[in-house]
Amino acid sequence: YKLTVPQKVKAHRGSCLLIPCQFTSERLVGSSPVGVWKVGSKTGKEVSRNNQSLDIWKNLNVYLVGDLKVKNCTTLLYGIQPNHAKKYYFREETIPYNFDEFVEITIQVIDTPAQMMEGPLVTLSCSAPAPCADENPSIRWDDLLNGTVTQNETTRADGNKAMVSILTFRASFLHNKKTLICTAQYTVGSVNKTAKRTTTLNVLYAPKKTSASSQAGGVLEGPAATLTCSSEANPAVVQYTWFRGNEETTIDTGPTLTFRQVTISQAGVYYCQARNTHGAETSPPVTLDVLCRYLRSDRRISKRTENSPSSSWLFYSNLAFSTSSFDFCFIFLASRQFIINVVPFLNYL
Ligand SMILES: *[C@@H]1O[C@H](CO)[C@@H](O)[C@H](O)[C@H]1NC(C)=O
Ligand SMILES: *[C@@H]1O[C@H](CO)[C@@H](O)[C@H](O)[C@H]1NC(C)=O
Ligand SMILES: *[C@@H]1O[C@H](CO)[C@@H](O)[C@H](O)[C@H]1NC(C)=O
Ligand SMILES: *[C@@H]1O[C@H](CO)[C@@H](O)[C@H](O)[C@H]1NC(C)=O
Ligand SMILES: *[C@@H]1O[C@H](CO)[C@@H](O)[C@H](O)[C@H]1NC(C)=O
Repeated sequence: YKLTVPQKVKAHRGSCLLIPCQFTSERLVGSSPVGVWKVGSKTGKEVSRNNQSLDIWKNLNVYLVGDLKVKNCTTLLYGIQPNHAKKYYFREETIPYNFDEFVEITIQVIDTPAQMMEGPLVTLSCSAPAPCADENPSIRWDDLLNGTVTQNETTRADGNKAMVSILTFRASFLHNKKTLICTAQYTVGSVNKTAKRTTTLNVLYAPKKTSASSQAGGVLEGPAATLTCSSEANPAVVQYTWFRGNEETTIDTGPTLTFRQVTISQAGVYYCQARNTHGAETSPPVTLDVLCRYLRSDRRISKRTENSPSSSWLFYSNLAFSTSSFDFCFIFLASRQFIINVVPFLNYL
């Protein structure tokens, strides 16, 4: 007495599974044979009797498709779930005999992340075992990502045929973390069965949308101030670098640039650069506007002019500063195109 089954069969969650099965016996099989699958051991609970599903197989569709009269116990299961990952033993009632050999069902990880680089054309494939149905299964994707699909029949390493659907598309950073669902539809008799597979895309890309920001409205001379760099990248940014104006030397590293005590001379244009393993991107310039606290009193300076709206007369900027002794605060229009006026020493806050 010997049962010939694969030691292990792999199934995807929700998918169908074919267990090829043959047995030998000294005694003849009766005219109304009954094939029984049991879980755990030879004396374990029955999970099926011919096409009837029992116990933990209750929610499965079981088809004993082999002809028991010729000792073919091939069985087809639809709707495999993780709790079905167990060892199964076979019995035939008319011999009658409990076979020693068993088949172990294992479940493959459901969500297989697919890693790819942004830019080039990439392919994803979804395969559906073909022996589970009367006809070849048809395969659909929930989103084609602007790509194209080809379907093909292949023969897998274990000799079973499978239908393969190949999705070819151009990977974009916008696809990162997207979940794709591929659905295989089988027709068994007059019934349609479906099996689904999900894949999460992991699109690798160099930093994008890099920007540096300063406090709106400028920072006050004296206390500390911080510029912040932000960027999107996969994998995450590993290094931020700061530059000032047209100078190429790095002035600091890290996602923030901190001035412990802001001075007028630090007013100016700054950039940050974000880098990961796939490249680097430099932000547009950000201006650090410094509001002057004091102006010298020994200058004869006119008052604020009437036509200069107070909201616009604030900034010391990178513009127009050539002298290193900062005697004045300049008042600019919001556009900062020209100097309107110079004001006397005062603490205007
Ligand atoms: C089980 O179902 C299959 C498929 O519908 C059918 O071919 C087979 O005869 C059935 N087996 C028994 C024992 O009822
Ligand atoms: C057993 O039955 C299955 C389903 O009908 C069939 O595909 C397979 O070829 C049979 N195996 C043998 C050895 O005859
Ligand atoms: C799809 O491709 C077309 C043509 O190449 C393009 O115009 C469209 O913006 C793309 N759509 C998406 C969602 O990428
Ligand atoms: C289909 O599969 C065969 C064999 O694996 C291969 O030679 C052929 O190029 C494939 N066709 C397509 C369209 O992918
Ligand atoms: C099964 O699917 C096919 C193709 O989509 C469809 O024509 C048929 O009506 C479906 N049958 C049932 C019973 O839903």
